[in-house]
Amino acid sequence: MFVINTIAELTKTVDKVKAQGKTVGLVPTMGALHEGHLSLIKRARKENDVVFVSIFVNPVQFNNQDDLRKYPRTLDRDVEFIGDYADYAFAPSVEEIFPVQPSEKYDFGPVEKVMEGAARPGHFNGVGIIVRRLLEWTRPDKAYFGEKDYQQIAVIRELVLQCNIQSEIVPCPIVREPNGLAMSSRNRRLTPEQFEKAANIHRILEESRKCVDVPQMKAFVEAEIAKIPEFQLDYFEIADDKTLQTVHALADADGVMGFVTVYVGEVRLIDNIRYK
Ligand code: PAJ
Repeated sequence: MFVINTIAELTKTVDKVKAQGKTVGLVPTMGALHEGHLSLIKRARKENDVVFVSIFVNPVQFNNQDDLRKYPRTLDRDVEFIGDYADYAFAPSVEEIFPVQPSEKYDFGPVEKVMEGAARPGHFNGVGIIVRRLLEWTRPDKAYFGEKDYQQIAVIRELVLQCNIQSEIVPCPIVREPNGLAMSSRNRRLTPEQFEKAANIHRILEESRKCVDVPQMKAFVEAEIAKIPEFQLDYFEIADDKTLQTVHALADADGVMGFVTVYVGEVRLIDNIRYK
C-alpha cells in the first residue's frame, strides 16, 4: 500500500486509475483503525479494482475540543494494519485539507436535526464538509460507511443527493467485540473495567426486544442504563429507519430502530439496534 499526503497526488493517482478503466472504492476514516474499519476495507477490496482509505482526524466535525485533542492518532500502526487490503492510504495534514477555515453551511433537513445532530451542534456539517471533498477528489464508484454511525449514513445520502455526487453509498453492518460492545476508536480510552461494563449497552438493547412496544422499550432501556454505575445516558430514541424521526409505536413505520448514546466515564459511546 502507498501512503499519499497531498490532494494533488491523490487526484493524480485517481486520474491514472480511472484512465485505466478501473473501478474505485473509498473508505473514509479518522484512523485508530480496528476490525470494524477493516470490514469496510475488505468489502471495498471485494467490490472494486482499486481501494483508497482516507485517514484524517477531521477537526471541523468535533464540537468538543477535548474530544479532538484526545482522539487517538496511530498512523504508522494503521498503515501496517491495512496492509494489502487497500492500495492507497490518503493521510493528509490539517493544513493540506483546510488551508483556510471552511465556511460551507449545509442543511441536510430533518435527518440531521435529531439525536447526534441535536446533541452535537455542527457535527454533521463538519462531516459533510470533509466527506464531500473526499468524494469529489476520489470520485469513487462506491464509498463505504458503517451502520454504527447510522445517522451519519442518512446525512451522507442527503449530501450526495444535494451535490449530485455519483458515488454509490454502501452501508456496512456493525462489527462488535466478543463481549458485544460495538468496536470504536474511542474504546481505547476505556479502562479494562469500563470496557467490560460497556458491554451492557448492547446487552440492554438486545434485551429490550422482549418489550411489547415502544413506551416499554424506552422505559426499560432508560432504567437499565441508570442501574449501571459510571453510565450516563445521553439519549435513547426509537425512530423510523429512514426519516430518523421518533416513532411512538412499532406499527408507525416499516423499519424501526433504537439509537443510544451513553457516557461511560468520560467516553461517549453510541450504538443502535434494529427492532423491525
Ligand atoms: P470513523 O469513526 O473513523 O469511522 C470510519 C467508518 O468506519 C465510518 O463509516 C464508521 O461508521 C465505520 N465504523 C466504525 N466503527 C465500526 C464498527 N464497529 N462496525 C462497522 N463500521 C464501523 O465516521 C467517521 O470516522 C468520520 O465521521 C468520517 C466519515 C471519516 C468523516 O470524517
